[in-house]
Amino acid sequence: MPIPVTILGATGLVGQVFCERLSGHPLFKIAALVAGPESAGIPYGEAVQWRRPGPVPAEVAALSIAAAPERLSTPIAFSALSPEASARLEAPYADAGAWIFTNASTHRMDPDVPLVVPEINGDHLPRALNQGRTGAIVANPNCTTVGLALALAPLQRRFGLQGTRVVSLQARSGAGLQAGQLMELTDDLIPHITGEAQKIALELPKILGQWEPNAPPTPAAVEVTATCMRVPVPHGHTLCVDITLENAATERELHEAWTSFEGLSGAATLHSAPRPLIHVDSDPDAPRPAAHRDRGEGLAVSVGGLTRLDASRRRWSFVTLSHNLIRGAAGGAILTAEDAHRRGLLDD
Ligand SMILES: NC(=O)c1ccc[n+]([C@@H]2O[C@H](COP(=O)([O-])OP(=O)(O)OC[C@H]3O[C@@H](n4cnc5c(N)ncnc54)[C@H](OP(=O)(O)O)[C@@H]3O)[C@@H](O)[C@H]2O)c1
Repeated sequence: MPIPVTILGATGLVGQVFCERLSGHPLFKIAALVAGPESAGIPYGEAVQWRRPGPVPAEVAALSIAAAPERLSTPIAFSALSPEASARLEAPYADAGAWIFTNASTHRMDPDVPLVVPEINGDHLPRALNQGRTGAIVANPNCTTVGLALALAPLQRRFGLQGTRVVSLQARSGAGLQAGQLMELTDDLIPHITGEAQKIALELPKILGQWEPNAPPTPAAVEVTATCMRVPVPHGHTLCVDITLENAATERELHEAWTSFEGLSGAATLHSAPRPLIHVDSDPDAPRPAAHRDRGEGLAVSVGGLTRLDASRRRWSFVTLSHNLIRGAAGGAILTAEDAHRRGLLDD
């Protein structure tokens, strides 16, 4: 029997992808939709400004939207709430017994909140049981950090990673519907996204770090600097990445590390897991958002443009691309919930 779930922030861009991808899901069934008070009582299909390809899924079109309740009626919620609403609502819901899989940044750096990319650190999930709550909060990383972490993890595991410098070219949809005018960005770019570089610098070491049972989390010792820009691309974040490895690698070894990477044991068997997880492009014109962001139904990552930066074979640059709304948000959170289910964490 699928487990009933609530989608918090169901009318926003990330909430729409939750509706799309949870419709017909074998483990989870959409039972309730929550959005701001002005949509309360209105059928989802009438209230939502639908921005996804295809029609509003039949499973949700006639469901009435609720304003945020005092207590959730389902044991699990997927959250696509704005940061303000997340800060007010998620912890009380988790205290009252729900498992909240959230995309908001509010709790990402809380010490006992796992910040999960299942293939890299799904083994951090059991730490959610240490939160002292009846339920738990599990966070998805920032949409830029997710793709970066997936491109770097295979190299970190194989060669060691000393540091990385990133320039991000982030899609319009990364700003959400509430950012209004950014959704219309054309013939221009925004050269600085407030707070984004700091999020990447904090979140990446947490994801790539160690988290043993009964021990404090140890972030990976990786130096991270970033410059983050908004560009007039509808969906898909492209990152220009320079890395310094601890040990020398050849181009062939780097390719092999990426193409053979399936992540932690069992991650590749999850219902939504993409195969392959990482696509390596040798065409100099790839990866590109319009052509490649939907690989693996939006859950795969692409890398290309691999270039050696010096004779040591420790310094390289490459380009990576991932879908911000799918791998970087709703699709990633659903994959994480599938992993929590596989690990028996959602049994009660
Ligand atoms: N867009 C991305 O690529 C992306 C990627 C990763 C993470 N995130 C994070 O995910 C979250 C959602 O992002 P988004 O792009 O989907 O934003 P969005 O389009 O602006 O949607 C925000 C959602 O929150 C709801 N909301 C706001 N205040 C509420 C309240 N008081 N009670 C109940 N619901 C409320 C909104 O409902 P109303 O429309 O009714 O106000 C809407 O459904 C944000 O925290 C964002 O930082 C976004």
